[in-house]
Amino acid sequence: MKRQVLFLVGIIILLTVSFVFGETFGIKKRAPRPHEYGNVVINNFSKDNNIAPVVFNHWLHRAKYTCRLCHVDIGFAMEAGATGITEEDNKNGLYCGACHNGKEAFPPEEKDSVGNSTKNCDLCHSYGKKVKFRENFYKFTKGFPRARFGNRVDWLKAEEKGLVKLKDYLEGITIKRKPLQIPEDTELKAMEVGMPDIVFSHKKHAVWNGCELCHPEIFGVKRGATKYTMQEIFDGKYCGACHGNVAFPNTDCRLCHTKDVY
Ligand code: HEC
Ligand code: HEC
Ligand code: HEC
Ligand code: HEC
Ligand code: HEC
Ligand code: HEC
Repeated sequence: MKRQVLFLVGIIILLTVSFVFGETFGIKKRAPRPHEYGNVVINNFSKDNNIAPVVFNHWLHRAKYTCRLCHVDIGFAMEAGATGITEEDNKNGLYCGACHNGKEAFPPEEKDSVGNSTKNCDLCHSYGKKVKFRENFYKFTKGFPRARFGNRVDWLKAEEKGLVKLKDYLEGITIKRKPLQIPEDTELKAMEVGMPDIVFSHKKHAVWNGCELCHPEIFGVKRGATKYTMQEIFDGKYCGACHGNVAFPNTDCRLCHTKDVY
């Protein structure tokens, strides 16, 4: 009985707080459409070189590779524009060129058997252009389990069901290591009366992120040693380094504050 009352109080607080937080934290921007969520515009050099800026989509790439492969092994920064990729880098097999080399994925330019060449520049340099892409988000994710926000795709379930198969290894780039043991689920205290606590699952995260995407840069491995607040998460730190722009957004309070709710 007492538990049920607490549970109800929790839900009510969660709802009010989420409204108030939405206002005070200014997270009520226009929500991106499902196919736009996780898209990154890269424009350090394009405009100055008279070519359209690059649009990189996470939805297609995360359906094929782990976050770890790109953000640890290939070395993309987890911040739009921060890597400073150049076309020369790509030609040398770095960054986009680690895959867009005609073997793993389409190259910048390809020749058919009779020597006619096709340029694929527009597929990457697509910002502000009408481009005919090979893949369509809505066709690609048709039949995937749904989520409420972000890409509106429940990526965890899609992976569990085998609808997406994640590659975590790239020949010549990934160094094989012995996998580390995955820790048990951790409870993180919400530290506010009535706010449901957070259950952090290492197992769910390790599938996508391995270990090095979070440790030691974002979180220390000593329990409770890293101190942070919801405000910092909304600001893109800690959990917010991924939740808010690529992993499901922070508007979905219930997916993190789950203790005693489900
Ligand atoms: C797989 C994706 C991809 C393809 C295909 C591609 N580029 Fe790029 N290119 C990039 C990225 C990413 C950048 C960095 C963009 C930035 O910061 O402005 C870039 C940068 C450039 C720049 C800016 C100057 C420089 O040297 O970095 C030029 C010019 C350029 N590309 C030309 C081309 C041309 C021409 C083609 C087609 C033959 C092409 N690119 C195909 C991804 C691609
Ligand atoms: C195929 C490679 C690839 C995969 C897979 C990938 N990313 Fe990225 N990610 C990138 C690139 C490229 C950028 C842009 C870097 C730049 O502009 O310098 C980026 C940027 C980001 C950013 C910053 C976004 C912003 O708006 O500032 C976050 C956060 C991020 N990725 C998280 C993830 C997460 C979480 C996953 C797995 C679910 C993931 N990425 C999978 C390549 C990848
Ligand atoms: C880990 C491998 C990998 C990396 C790194 C990678 N891609 Fe891709 N990319 C793929 C694969 C595989 C596909 C889908 C297969 C194909 O079209 O060849 C793809 C497809 C795309 C498409 C979709 C084209 C369409 O018509 O639907 C774009 C655009 C693209 N990549 C841009 C980029 C840019 C820009 C970068 C670097 C910032 C990048 N990719 C880095 C593997 C990668
Ligand atoms: C998405 C981010 C993320 C990933 C990926 C991740 N961790 Fe963690 N890890 C955390 C957080 C958050 C904590 C809790 C820290 C706290 O209690 O303050 C933690 C705690 C730990 C702890 C201390 C646990 C305890 O109960 O004492 C260990 C050990 C650990 N992680 C190892 C790993 C290993 C091994 C991997 C890869 C299999 C991994 N982590 C992947 C975020 C992550
Ligand atoms: C390095 C990126 C990263 C960081 C940091 C991170 N996550 Fe995640 N998280 C993911 C990805 C990727 C998924 C898979 C689902 C998705 O992409 O929406 C996920 C899934 C989850 C889920 C599972 C939801 C479900 O449907 O079962 C919860 C809960 C969660 N994260 C909570 C947290 C919390 C709490 C923190 C901080 C302590 C955190 N995450 C930090 C990337 C991250
Ligand atoms: C990605 C996971 C995640 C999501 C989504 C999330 N939270 Fe949190 N929240 C946390 C974590 C982790 C903490 C614990 C931080 C700490 O140590 O105080 C927390 C703490 C809190 C606290 C305690 C006080 C404070 O400021 O730290 C409140 C209140 C809160 N969250 C409200 C919300 C509301 C409202 C939403 C939805 C709009 C939300 N949270 C969405 C992970 C999340």
